[in-house]
Amino acid sequence: MTEAETRRLLVELAGSLFTRGFSVGSAGNISVRLDDGYLITPTNSSLGRLDPTRLSRLDAAFAHVDGDKPSKEVFMHRAFYTARADAGAVVHLHSTMATAVACLPDVDASNPIPPLTPYFVMRVGRSMPIVPYYRPGDPAMEPAIHAAARDARAVLLANHGPVISGKSLTDAVYAAEELEEAARLFLLLRRDLPRRLTAAQVDDLLATFG
Ligand code: 13P
Repeated sequence: MTEAETRRLLVELAGSLFTRGFSVGSAGNISVRLDDGYLITPTNSSLGRLDPTRLSRLDAAFAHVDGDKPSKEVFMHRAFYTARADAGAVVHLHSTMATAVACLPDVDASNPIPPLTPYFVMRVGRSMPIVPYYRPGDPAMEPAIHAAARDARAVLLANHGPVISGKSLTDAVYAAEELEEAARLFLLLRRDLPRRLTAAQVDDLLATFG
C-alpha cells in the first residue's frame, strides 16, 4: 500500500468509527507504521473530519516531521510499537462499553473481560489487562503500557479507554470494534455468570487463527 493509500484508509476507517459512535468529539487517536516512520492523527482532531494531507508524520524515532501537531498520546502509541514487533497500527478510543469496564473496581485487572465469544479471542487475544490511571497526555504512562503490551495486543487504561494494536490498520480497527462489543456482552452478562469458552477452545482459536 502506498502512503497516499494508507492516509486515505486511515481517514476512511476513522470516519466510520466516528459515524457509528465509537468516538465522539475529538476523542481518540489512530496511528499506523510506515516503512520509515509513522502517521498519527493530529491533536484535538475529530476522527470524523480528518484530512489525509494534514495527518501528523513522525520519523522512525517518533519525532514530528510533517503535518499538523501530533496527538498528545504519541507515547501511548510508541509504547505499543516498541513492545510489539507485530504492531502495524494502534487505535485509542474512549468507546463507552470498554471504558465502562475500565472504570469497574471489582474486576480482574489482569484480564477483566472473559473469553465469551470466538472473535474477541481471535482479534484481541488471550488477555487484556487494565493499566492504572494516568492523566491523558501524561508520558509517565508509557512504561506501564509498554510492560503490559509485551504480553497483550490491547490494554484498557483505567477510567480512560482502550488502546488496541493490530498487524494492519484494518486489523487494529476491527479489534477495537470487537473489543467494544465484547465489553458490551460482558457488562450485560457478568451478573448472570455466563458460560465461557474453555481453555481448550481458546487454545484452538489461537492455534487456528493466530
Ligand atoms: P488527542 O486529541 O491529543 O489525540 O487526544 C485525544 C485523546 O483521546 C486523549 O486520550
